[in-house]
Amino acid sequence: MSLFSLPIFVLALFSLAFNAGDRKVQSSAPRSWSESRSLAQELVANLSTSEKVGILTGQGIFSSRCTGGTYAVNRSLPNAPNGFPSLCMNDGPAGIRGVDLVTGFPGGLNAASTFSRRLMQARGQALAEEAHGKGINIILAPQVDLMRSPKAGRVWESFGPDPWLSGEAAYTTISGIQSVGVQACAKHFLGYIQELWRYTYSVHIDDRTIHEMYLWPFMRAIEANVSSIMCAYNQFNGTYSCGNENLLGENGLLRNLGFQGFLMSDWGATHPTTSAYARAGLDMEQPGDFIIIGGGIFGESLTLAVDLGFVTQSRLNEMTTNVITPWFRLGQDQGYPPPNYDSRNPDGGGPLNGNVTVRSEAHTQLVREIAAKSSVLLKNENGALPLKGTERSMAVIGLDVNPPQKGCDLNACDGGVVVNGWGSGSISYDFVVAPIDALISYSQTTPNFTTQITNSSSNNIPAAVAIAKDKDVALVFVNAMSGELGAFQEVNGNFGDRNNMNLWYNGDKLIGEVASVNNNTIVIIHSTGPVLMEPWSTSPNVTGIIYAGTPGEQAGPAIVDILYGLVNPSGRLPFTIAKNASDYPADILYLSLDPEPSIDLTETLFLDYRSFDARNITPRYEFGYGLSYTSFEYSDLTIDPVNILANLQDVDVGNRLLQRSGEPPKLLRGFEEVDLAMSESQIVQFSIQERDLRIWDTPSQTWIRPAGSFEVYVGGSSRDIRLTGTLL
Ligand SMILES: *[C@@H]1O[C@H](CO)[C@@H](O)[C@H](O)[C@H]1NC(C)=O
Ligand SMILES: *[C@@H]1O[C@H](CO)[C@@H](O)[C@H](O)[C@H]1NC(C)=O
Ligand SMILES: *[C@@H]1O[C@H](CO)[C@@H](O)[C@H](O)[C@H]1NC(C)=O
Ligand SMILES: *[C@@H]1O[C@H](CO)[C@@H](O)[C@H](O)[C@H]1NC(C)=O
Ligand SMILES: *[C@@H]1O[C@H](CO)[C@@H](O)[C@H](O)[C@H]1NC(C)=O
Ligand SMILES: *[C@@H]1O[C@H](CO)[C@@H](O)[C@H](O)[C@H]1NC(C)=O
Ligand SMILES: *[C@@H]1O[C@H](CO)[C@@H](O)[C@H](O)[C@H]1NC(C)=O
Ligand SMILES: *[C@@H]1O[C@H](CO)[C@@H](O)[C@H](O)[C@H]1NC(C)=O
Ligand SMILES: *[C@@H]1O[C@H](CO)[C@@H](O)[C@H](O)[C@H]1NC(C)=O
Ligand SMILES: *[C@@H]1O[C@H](CO)[C@@H](O)[C@H](O)[C@H]1NC(C)=O
Repeated sequence: MSLFSLPIFVLALFSLAFNAGDRKVQSSAPRSWSESRSLAQELVANLSTSEKVGILTGQGIFSSRCTGGTYAVNRSLPNAPNGFPSLCMNDGPAGIRGVDLVTGFPGGLNAASTFSRRLMQARGQALAEEAHGKGINIILAPQVDLMRSPKAGRVWESFGPDPWLSGEAAYTTISGIQSVGVQACAKHFLGYIQELWRYTYSVHIDDRTIHEMYLWPFMRAIEANVSSIMCAYNQFNGTYSCGNENLLGENGLLRNLGFQGFLMSDWGATHPTTSAYARAGLDMEQPGDFIIIGGGIFGESLTLAVDLGFVTQSRLNEMTTNVITPWFRLGQDQGYPPPNYDSRNPDGGGPLNGNVTVRSEAHTQLVREIAAKSSVLLKNENGALPLKGTERSMAVIGLDVNPPQKGCDLNACDGGVVVNGWGSGSISYDFVVAPIDALISYSQTTPNFTTQITNSSSNNIPAAVAIAKDKDVALVFVNAMSGELGAFQEVNGNFGDRNNMNLWYNGDKLIGEVASVNNNTIVIIHSTGPVLMEPWSTSPNVTGIIYAGTPGEQAGPAIVDILYGLVNPSGRLPFTIAKNASDYPADILYLSLDPEPSIDLTETLFLDYRSFDARNITPRYEFGYGLSYTSFEYSDLTIDPVNILANLQDVDVGNRLLQRSGEPPKLLRGFEEVDLAMSESQIVQFSIQERDLRIWDTPSQTWIRPAGSFEVYVGGSSRDIRLTGTLL
């Protein structure tokens, strides 16, 4: 009898075989944590107090050639005959910021949208290969904050609202980064959920929601042996994250999970006093000086605090050892290249820039592959797609077909195709291949391409209608953008977080007017997060919709690959697209009279599809949704209980009967990418870990498996369930 049932859905994703090329994972054998820690301890034993403090402190916002840099010890040291270098850290998750001759990668949300561990890992590795080539010790990536509100400014950098998918993306990205000896930094801990008020708000999250949601991706990061974790600007439970012992301390959430690397502050995320932060568990402060929003509490203040006994010498040793251990673990003591660039001169000028090219043909191909395979085909009626190139005429419409606007600080502008959000996670592109250029180039180089292309590269509605009217096809490119709350950056009236979920620059009206005169209108969306698609998504004249996210520098070629069927679409939504913004369970806190507002996560476990399922709200397109140019059949589900039973022996808390688990109706617990040739079939195996069946029990502070059976759903999305079974 089933007292309780906790359904799991395993999302099966299928794509046609595609030759991914032969990128090889460079094998490097990291040292063990314990050996690395011993080496670090021996080194630290030979350091003076001020040398230790130098290793824990940033050089200053304008003083380091990297986004952040510590002070070097230039003498021979135990286990480090050449001394300990200034550690070079640099943004960010979508490419190297403030540097030229680098690749512009797709955002993290696009990586999630591939539902491909292979591509997530390859993206991390390629990013790290470029970081290594520039002499960066620590790349400030990945960002693993959950998308609580779809309007949050930086959601394009991380992996969406689902903790399990975010956890897999964190794990694979970090594995990729560290496989080439570069240190990863998972960020931002904890509860960094919006831009507005981020320097002061206090987030309140119940213990179970912490464990099952916001901590989960960090847990997977720790399992991937992440070198460092960055604490967030915001307060958690009334105390700033970077000075919060419950988060960072030796009995805090991270160390309890076995985290052995170091804890670094976000830039300026510290506030007086020094000893409180050092004792709470913070190991390193960046950028080292006071930068208006905060900072400047380590350095000489830390030396003084140690001299006066407010911070013990043993805590100082531990902090220094934590920072040095990952350097030994990844072999950065063995001839790691020093930085050869100067992020203060992103154009390559100045005496410190070596202009080292770290781009490669393989990285360009990878970016194009990820961009295409993260594009989600949402609608395809009347055989609209793929295009053939033999259509008589085609109108190409929208500001978004152009190259991005040049010369805006950290991409804080939207005057062309959106390939990134703005802020520190954005990069200064060497170039972007714009949709219009890729389309024209494809038309000129493809045999038998006969379509007459006419463009109106703006959102001017009369001009668009005029060219769309008599064409066989109308492509309408539209966008929306968000980014990081910067100094005073505001783009189209948005301060980081989006003000609403509408397309920018009258995009909805543009689509509507074009579709009123053209019965084969295909919409392509570049956006940092989900947008509303009403009322045009249901118009019979809108025959195609593609959500392409923020695809990086190969935006044009990737969308051509999808439009012309060179790549079979296999991207899936890593979030829900609602019919109405008010259908989402959580919103941004925009206005507050309190300068330190509280944000209570009262929706608890019910983010995104979990909430739409529980409240029975039909979305426009659900989590996991995505069409392809072929169809797939699912059959013969077998649930093999042997492994599960074997794993059951690990259960440490026995037969606690829970009448109600309080879990959402369905939870993602698996996804696999499968390459299938036409008409081929394959057996796909999902192994469900015992802990994927557990829930966090606050009273006992343990994971427990609720009594009863589990329903297992296998399908193409959270609502396209093809097979069901029961796991006893
Ligand atoms: C470091 O080791 C060297 C060589 O043994 C020694 O001369 C020096 O005093 C030590 N320095 C510190 C701060 O322990
Ligand atoms: C260590 O060497 C670097 C590079 O030569 C130099 O910039 C730095 O000032 C030196 N540090 C100290 C403490 O001497
Ligand atoms: C993490 O480190 C442990 C211990 O060194 C090792 O067994 C494990 O394979 C590592 N995991 C990854 C993903 O690197
Ligand atoms: C939050 O703060 C309250 C009051 O200070 C404390 O009792 C509680 O343990 C804290 N919870 C967490 C998760 O830090
Ligand atoms: C690097 O490139 C910049 C911009 O093209 C140029 O001004 C500078 O002289 C170059 N530096 C070196 C070392 O080649
Ligand atoms: C181009 O069209 C010709 C004539 O229909 C055909 O023979 C040829 O195979 C086509 N080429 C390609 C590359 O499709
Ligand atoms: C069409 O695209 C080309 C290439 O980007 C551009 O130069 C031209 O201004 C566009 N035409 C219109 C009417 O937007
Ligand atoms: C669809 O497009 C045709 C022109 O092809 C137009 O006559 C018709 O009114 C449009 N229908 C809608 C619902 O916009
Ligand atoms: C779309 O419009 C064209 C030209 O106006 C017409 O030939 C065609 O039949 C229409 N298609 C549909 C599906 O209505
Ligand atoms: C969206 O929901 C709000 C609040 O429920 C409602 O006022 C509004 O009319 C809805 N918008 C649409 C387009 O249905």
